[in-house]
Amino acid sequence: MAVKITETILRDAHQSLIATRMTTEQMLPIIEKMDKVGYHSVECWGGATFDASLRFLKEDPWERLRKLRAGFKNTKLQMLFRGQNILGYNHYSDDVVEYFVQKSIANGIDIIRIFDCFNDLRNLETAVKAANKEKGHAQIALSYTLGDAYTLDYWKDTARRIEEMGADSLCIKDMAGLLVPYEADRLVKALKEGTKLPIQLHTHYTSGVASMTYLKAVEAGCDIIDTAMSPFSMGTSQPATEVMVETFKGTPYDTGLDQNLLAEIADYFRPMQEEALKSGLLNPKVMGVNIKTLLYQVPGGMLSNLVSQLKEANAEDKYYQVLEEIPRVRKDFGEPPLVTPSSQIVGTQAVLNVLQGERYKMVTKESKKVLAGEFGQTIKPFNPEVQKKAIGDAEPITCRPADKIAPQLAKFEEEIKEWKQQDEDVLSYALFPQVAIEFFKHRQAQQTRVDVNAADTTNKAYPV
Ligand code: CO
Repeated sequence: MAVKITETILRDAHQSLIATRMTTEQMLPIIEKMDKVGYHSVECWGGATFDASLRFLKEDPWERLRKLRAGFKNTKLQMLFRGQNILGYNHYSDDVVEYFVQKSIANGIDIIRIFDCFNDLRNLETAVKAANKEKGHAQIALSYTLGDAYTLDYWKDTARRIEEMGADSLCIKDMAGLLVPYEADRLVKALKEGTKLPIQLHTHYTSGVASMTYLKAVEAGCDIIDTAMSPFSMGTSQPATEVMVETFKGTPYDTGLDQNLLAEIADYFRPMQEEALKSGLLNPKVMGVNIKTLLYQVPGGMLSNLVSQLKEANAEDKYYQVLEEIPRVRKDFGEPPLVTPSSQIVGTQAVLNVLQGERYKMVTKESKKVLAGEFGQTIKPFNPEVQKKAIGDAEPITCRPADKIAPQLAKFEEEIKEWKQQDEDVLSYALFPQVAIEFFKHRQAQQTRVDVNAADTTNKAYPV
């Protein structure tokens, strides 16, 4: 059967290569062409794009979504959603999660890929139900990782539970590029035994095996793969769309996509890549093969974070010590996958453990939350000694963490009354309070400026 393609250049590709800095203005001129390709979907929203739009680009992410929706008349739009963390780094109350899903779909999202950094399915329930209710496509993603607890039986059983939860499809989310080709073959076959849902594979080129992994996965029955147009492919991003299309040409998996049209789209993005290389936004280092990601099982993005944290602390020489500490911290924390936000939490704690010269002498607020059960359940129990050191005699929670969070929406509405220009503003504020207020101020200042300019032009055009 023809394999389907999800294009990631408008979300994960630029998030992984150029710190999520592609602007809406850079996207709009090409979307009419992209709309003609016949992609299964275009991933263009969610993940880090929401935060980056507000924080660095001073753009309203909701406005971006509406513009993309207006341009993509025939293509499904897809977003990445962190379960109960939505697009932020904490757990939110159910009413905020439900409202976010509702507004995402109302503004143009078709497919919501929902994941949890611990694969604690309880943290996905609210978002999945909300997507079902709003008639969106709910895709549940398994955060792929390695470790003795992560057996094929575990994945198969999780797939079965995901289907029972009301998901419309399942994604293997391999954020670190840990899934090697023959393992992908075994994994896809096992998942197919566990579920009838369509299976999509998402991986990164970080460790250099990604296109081979796709090949084996597709042969094993994987229905959809995530790829990025060549100028923003490979390295810490996805395999190139054109390459995968060519690979399957003339086989039963033929995607049917037009290579000439893809070439025109690539021509549009290539100068953007050259510009990013010139300005330093795109570091050639992230384009190569990083085999450390396999050795230390650390996602590429986490490695670059680590380098900058150590640089700030003037301790770049501790790099390898920290790399060795990361798996130990991960083990103490119940061996979760390393993906936002667990990757940041484990990474920061590992840095502290090394820099302080004593493990857990200082414990971050987030590490305490993890060990208090506030992010949910990990596959293995926490190290009891470390847990005791972090939270003392406090009773860790074992229920779904959001059950302990009272509704928050009304309070947020009250807090942003004076800034509100659209319903969605409350959601921007809920996720990133300070950043959103800064953005609202900037938006208002700009509107005032536009008004003054408009008045000026009128005067010049019609001198009195
Ligand atoms: Co990704």
